[in-house]
Amino acid sequence: MNKQILVTGGTGFIGSHTVVELQNNGYDVVIVDNLSNSKIEVLNQIKEITGILPKFEEFDLTDKVKVDAFFKKYSNLEAIIHFAASKAVGESVDKPLMYYNNNLNTLMNIMSCMIEYKVPNLVFSSSCTVYGQPDKLPVTEKTPRKEAESPYGNTKTICEDIIRDTLNAYPELKGIALRYFNPIGAHETAKIGELPLGVPNNLIPFLTQTVAGIRPELSVFGDDYNTPDGSAIRDYIHVVDLAKAHVVAIERLLNDKNKENCEYFNVGTGNGVSVLEIIESFERATGEKVPHKIVARRVGDIEQIYADTTFANEELGWKAESTLDETLLSAWKWQENIGE
Ligand code: UD1
Repeated sequence: MNKQILVTGGTGFIGSHTVVELQNNGYDVVIVDNLSNSKIEVLNQIKEITGILPKFEEFDLTDKVKVDAFFKKYSNLEAIIHFAASKAVGESVDKPLMYYNNNLNTLMNIMSCMIEYKVPNLVFSSSCTVYGQPDKLPVTEKTPRKEAESPYGNTKTICEDIIRDTLNAYPELKGIALRYFNPIGAHETAKIGELPLGVPNNLIPFLTQTVAGIRPELSVFGDDYNTPDGSAIRDYIHVVDLAKAHVVAIERLLNDKNKENCEYFNVGTGNGVSVLEIIESFERATGEKVPHKIVARRVGDIEQIYADTTFANEELGWKAESTLDETLLSAWKWQENIGE
């Protein structure tokens, strides 16, 4: 029998791409999602790509009674990948309690069931946001974490601590926190991708919607940073490369290859890219012009961050493979597919 993996938030952007990679690697996936920021149609899209319709349960993981019932029903789980979370930085400033409730209670409910129902392995969606604006670049996993800039960022830091403390107390459990840099792009089939609700906050969906004519122009937030072209620098990783990192993390845990019961990996490309370089690469890859203007910095943004990925390269045997041009082309194909 194939190994069964619970993927929470499996109809979301990173979750759906990870379900595809898991199914392509022979895993039996069951998704739990409350569809608060995703669409049920994603399940059929996953089936079109992989030939397999993943099992699906729709409920909110903050509801402990439902979480318990789920773990009673699915008694063959070998591991959990926990994506389900709220992720909009600005919204988290306006609705902190919603963020603490959604992001902390879901994790605690899941971890208490891992203990009770003996599901030993967890992969957690963390973020480079835990590093804040680092003093030294690139950041390694040993770079000290900094006080979070937003309630959203704080939930990621606290979740990492909840996992560390729980795994220390229950040595029969193991976990890996993947610290994502900026996930972008879409599956090569253009059947799944990012589906932002309303006006996108993130750079790439705003950019592709601008080129599609949905938004008049892209605002570049700041050209007075201390970077070569003055715009802010991030490490943009193709979501499919990121999804593959989850498969190798699961394999590491299932095969007892982990060296500590709680491990952390940076998942990025290792390349720092500025906002203006993103526009340049997008135009080169797609042949489309990106209407844009320079505006003031966005409050709460850091100047630059990019990953040192040596640890993931060496320990997981994983490396981001897509070029930036390929990644941005995939984002554009997805935008063309979903239209306006
Ligand atoms: C943020 C969070 C990250 C989170 C991600 C997803 C921080 C430090 N980072 O990433 O943890 O996972 O959101 O919600 O909290 N930009 C523009 N114009 C735009 C939009 C963005 O110039 O219209 C610029 C930003 O200033 C930034 C870069 O593009 O320099 C990337 O922004 P964005 O896509 O929003 O991601 P982050 O803020 O890096």
